[in-house]
Amino acid sequence: MTENEIINTVRSRMSERRFRHTEGCAAMADELARRWGEDVSLVRRAAYLHDIAKEIPYEDQLKMIDEFGVILTRTQRSEKIIHAFSGALIAWKEFSEPEEVCAAIRWHTTARRGMSRLEKIIWLADLTEEGRSFPGCDDIRQLAFRDLSSALVLGFDITLRFLINKGNEIDSNMIEARNYEIASRA
Ligand SMILES: [Fe+2]
Ligand SMILES: [Fe+2]
Repeated sequence: MTENEIINTVRSRMSERRFRHTEGCAAMADELARRWGEDVSLVRRAAYLHDIAKEIPYEDQLKMIDEFGVILTRTQRSEKIIHAFSGALIAWKEFSEPEEVCAAIRWHTTARRGMSRLEKIIWLADLTEEGRSFPGCDDIRQLAFRDLSSALVLGFDITLRFLINKGNEIDSNMIEARNYEIASRA
């Protein structure tokens, strides 16, 4: 599928608001890919597809996950997180995207230890695209052009504090991702 075909399909499956977020994510991911010498075309495909499943009814996403035998934890099956896993399935099955693109979609919410550069770029672009404005967002965005790893750790810190303040569950992949980045910087 060409990038334009992806964009048109994605646009037809989400609200205008979410499509604007998706476009913002693709623009930020594109800039980061050029900064870090990552494959711009793959990064853009992953960015456009990252929230492809977000507006699919929850029960349908669960069904898709179970039909394909994807084993998820209780936390990963929660409404906020599951779209990353169902989205990766859709990217693989319906769009025939390569594994590295599917992985970036799969881990765009929880992150994971030892993420590829493409996965890091998508995680950071999703968090800091121009439509985002939470406290610290600008700092993460600027850091992402200087040091991907430090930007990730700051992004994890802010995300984890937010989740804790809201009393939400935390996927252990994010803790492991944070530990891994801190250890690899030392
Ligand atoms: Fe998402
Ligand atoms: Fe997103």
